[in-house]
Amino acid sequence: MKKVTVSICTGTTCYLMGAAHLLCIDEVLDPYVRDHVEARGAHCLGLCHNEANGRAPFVKVNDRVIADANLTLVLDAVREILEEEN
Ligand code: FES
Repeated sequence: MKKVTVSICTGTTCYLMGAAHLLCIDEVLDPYVRDHVEARGAHCLGLCHNEANGRAPFVKVNDRVIADANLTLVLDAVREILEEEN
């Protein structure tokens, strides 16, 4: 199974708006999910330049953009994708 990619924006805006605590996502994933996820920090995703994209912090889960991201929203998106692929 292909891994789900979680790109956590660590650009200045997202970092200041709370992206830093999202970088610990590996610690809250259950072992099964952790094996199927590759989480990494990313430079500015370019989403903070357009208000239409919503509020920082931004996370991309595969191609899905999550605005105003928090761990719950990111984990929900990861689980949805894993369920779709099973
Ligand atoms: S700083 Fe995160 S999208 Fe620009």
